[in-house]
Amino acid sequence: MILLHNSRLLVMPGLTRSLAGGVALGGEVPVHRLGFGAMRLTGEGIWGSPKNRQEAIAVLRRAVELDVNFIDTADSYGPNVSEELIAEALFPYPRGLVIATKGGWNRPGPDQWTHDATPSHLRAAVEGSLKRLRLERIDLYQLHIPDPSVPFEDSVGTLAQLKSEGKIRLIGLSNVTQEHIERARHIVPIVSVQNRYSFADREWDYVVDYCERNGIAFIPWFPLGAGRVAGEILNQVARAHQASPKQVALAWLLKRSPIMLPIPGTSSVKHLEENVATASLCLTDEEYEKLSQVPQLAATR
Ligand SMILES: NC(=O)c1ccc[n+]([C@@H]2O[C@H](COP(=O)([O-])OP(=O)(O)OC[C@H]3O[C@@H](n4cnc5c(N)ncnc54)[C@H](OP(=O)(O)O)[C@@H]3O)[C@@H](O)[C@H]2O)c1
Repeated sequence: MILLHNSRLLVMPGLTRSLAGGVALGGEVPVHRLGFGAMRLTGEGIWGSPKNRQEAIAVLRRAVELDVNFIDTADSYGPNVSEELIAEALFPYPRGLVIATKGGWNRPGPDQWTHDATPSHLRAAVEGSLKRLRLERIDLYQLHIPDPSVPFEDSVGTLAQLKSEGKIRLIGLSNVTQEHIERARHIVPIVSVQNRYSFADREWDYVVDYCERNGIAFIPWFPLGAGRVAGEILNQVARAHQASPKQVALAWLLKRSPIMLPIPGTSSVKHLEENVATASLCLTDEEYEKLSQVPQLAATR
């Protein structure tokens, strides 16, 4: 059932009966499209505890009530804070909930990142995530980013070993090229790729197409397009659907490919509900094409 609430598109009771359907990670772990990105549950600069801890817990619980069954996080969000909040809010986990975490990119301070995808670090990172998430096995573990000072095969090979030891069920990559994916697939099956992507930001179009051809889920991060041209067109389409621009940007992603698994992030229950409602928002082919042309239009203006 689709409801319009305060002139905004809202859907109840949740994703199970939405139009967006799902994806089966590795052909064996089904999840609904959309998921939830748990990075924004931490403090400012993705550092420390959230300003409003109760709201952060409420967001996670509401996500599950709305049938979100894919939650993306990383050891570096906080660090540790996002994983700890997920366990605090949701453990014991409902059946079918997939928690995807990542390692190999550390957060030594607010807005800072440092690489470490050495085998010893990744082993310790997986053990840390297992403990914080109170799991015996992580359903989806993603290499957060290739480490330029560590052979890529060594990082992926370590995750493959952890999989064969039963600590990880499925393996994904993040911030990678097609070449990385192909090299990794020589070592172990890769079930997901997480790169920055939106209707206005299409550097990774060819990776989306590669993933679609190979049955790999594509998880776009930073799904809200930016820029003046993008804004004008988004607003136009949003008005036609009595939806928000953010909902339209998410709806474009869902239409882009059946393997697309958006994970919009928020620290607010209200925004979460708006984002989940997007799973029932269908753009027309014309609207989809108009939004698809934004990168070319922006380049010519
Ligand atoms: N692999 C990587 O390298 C990588 C990098 C970045 C992110 N990620 C993952 O991707 C997820 C999503 O990325 P992201 O958080 O950067 O981008 P995003 O989901 O596009 O944007 C999040 C921002 O949008 C706001 N927002 C969310 N829903 C809204 C709504 N309905 N109305 C108005 N504002 C809304 C949030 O603020 P409020 O909190 O106020 O709602 C937040 O500031 C993250 O949570 C994380 O799991 C991965």
